[in-house]
Amino acid sequence: MIHEFDAVIVGAGGAGLYAALEASRGARVAVVSKLYPTRSHTGAAQGGIGAALGNLEEDRPVWHAYDTVKGGDYLVDQQAATILAEEAVRSVYELENMGLPFSRTADGKIAQRRFGGHTRNEGEAPVHRSCYAADRTGHMILQTLYQQCIRENVVFFDEFQTVDVILDGQRVVGIVALELRTGEVHIFRAKAVMFATGGFGRMFKVTSNALACTGDGPALLARAGVPMMDMEFFQFHPTGIYKMGILITEGVRGEGGFMRNASGERFMQRYAPTLLDLAPRDMCSRAIMQEIAAGRGVRGDKRIDDYVWLDATHLGREVVEAKIPDIADFCRTYLDVDPAEKSMPVQPTAHYAMGGIPTDTWGRVTDGSIVWDGLYAAGECACVSVHGANRLGTNSLVDLIVFGRRAGQHIREYVQGSSSAALPSTAEDRFQALLSRLTDGKAGPHAGPVHEAMQDVMMTHVGVYRNADSMQTAMDRVQALRAQFETLRLSDTSKNFNSDLLGLLELQNMLDLSLLTAASALQRTESRGAHSREDYPDRDDDQWLKHTLAKLENPDGPVEQQSVGIDYRAVDVSIWKPKPRTY
Ligand code: FUM
Repeated sequence: MIHEFDAVIVGAGGAGLYAALEASRGARVAVVSKLYPTRSHTGAAQGGIGAALGNLEEDRPVWHAYDTVKGGDYLVDQQAATILAEEAVRSVYELENMGLPFSRTADGKIAQRRFGGHTRNEGEAPVHRSCYAADRTGHMILQTLYQQCIRENVVFFDEFQTVDVILDGQRVVGIVALELRTGEVHIFRAKAVMFATGGFGRMFKVTSNALACTGDGPALLARAGVPMMDMEFFQFHPTGIYKMGILITEGVRGEGGFMRNASGERFMQRYAPTLLDLAPRDMCSRAIMQEIAAGRGVRGDKRIDDYVWLDATHLGREVVEAKIPDIADFCRTYLDVDPAEKSMPVQPTAHYAMGGIPTDTWGRVTDGSIVWDGLYAAGECACVSVHGANRLGTNSLVDLIVFGRRAGQHIREYVQGSSSAALPSTAEDRFQALLSRLTDGKAGPHAGPVHEAMQDVMMTHVGVYRNADSMQTAMDRVQALRAQFETLRLSDTSKNFNSDLLGLLELQNMLDLSLLTAASALQRTESRGAHSREDYPDRDDDQWLKHTLAKLENPDGPVEQQSVGIDYRAVDVSIWKPKPRTY
């Protein structure tokens, strides 16, 4: 079946919905999503949206931009960070006007809390900047934007897995998608296509990411020849529930909670004497790993599974129930721990991809020289770059609403002045070839062990701390797993909701992104932000103040002839000169 729209948005999280809403005010827009929209992973974002509203104390967008640049260890493009911080304010008020039920101050303003790395006047002290709706901020964004999209007659194709992008040279033509309910293949032809498919944390064993976060957009585009930017920078959030990885919001520390080691000591004073537990995430995660390495962690099942405590007991039940009700519920459900009474066991959890599809500040996909005509990306799958080497908490939601909104505005104008490209007769070929192999009747191994091995390899060798040997091991093992992928076959060939097929498509995407991540990490011989190398412990601005572009070479050839080509792109440091990062 062929569908025709002005614009197709792939993904129905915050970025996709905001873009769809904006674009729909002058274009016929479809949203194609593998999930029912309000189940998108934006809904898991807990602690808030950073915006310098100044509702509780003085704050300024320029301080927010500065914190973003410093938090990102100076790999952030500074004009983009300025747009992020300035437009955050307007976007938050726009959401409020749409009806988003923010928590309130006593005098009725949007409530704000402190969050890691967000400071007053370039580092003086933590500032109340995160606008929140209890610990359900992302959930509220999704509900609000979805309702607005319905009002604007955006057409939704729910539970459709996008399996390929159709390009004519460097011009977008459309996408190929699989309707999960029927197994039918659909073609969507459009003047503009935007990817907003979220992150890919499921490539790691312990992650806060939902099952759906498998990097579908970046992987499809990588196989179509678009290089991925800054893939080596993957954020580990310091406070995932021990072993499960489920997020315990930084809002707990924003409200005054803190971490303790096995002997009850508040260890962050050793690592970030000014901001303590409100230091950026890369520093907090490394601090936990160092406490554990020094034998001061709480002993887990095995030594490698040691953890630390997150203590909110001193906040009192009233604060816990009012400010962090969802995480209190998670802890009672999954751990039988009531955070108002007992500390929560936490460990770093793979949380957020700073890297992804390279874009400009209007969401247009570009590697710095080529601009792909009509092709856009926004949200976690994109790299603008406003997070650099380490994203500040709350800035993911800011990124969604600011750059999702901007991309939607650009798409609306772009489609008015352009026409659709002709659909090539080969549009479905790549997907049909994969399907034929998977269903050729030959016996093949089960995908489960390949999936598990990938998550183990990435967690062990491309985690919080890295070194050349271990990342080379990761490269070799991921390549071997990609070769094994070629031998996999579908055991279930039915059409309706074939989770076996969906699982294989997602596994292929994660394997390709694992390779790009490991290759990008291996070549960067310095430590910066979330990329911490034991063999190169220092930041090296002379050599490495540049973005990595990693390209999957020969993606349609045999696996052993595929490789990763590396190139670079300049960082915009036009406002603040890089300085050593202390907190
Ligand atoms: O800790 C949190 O609530 C997560 C927020 C974020 O990733 O920005």
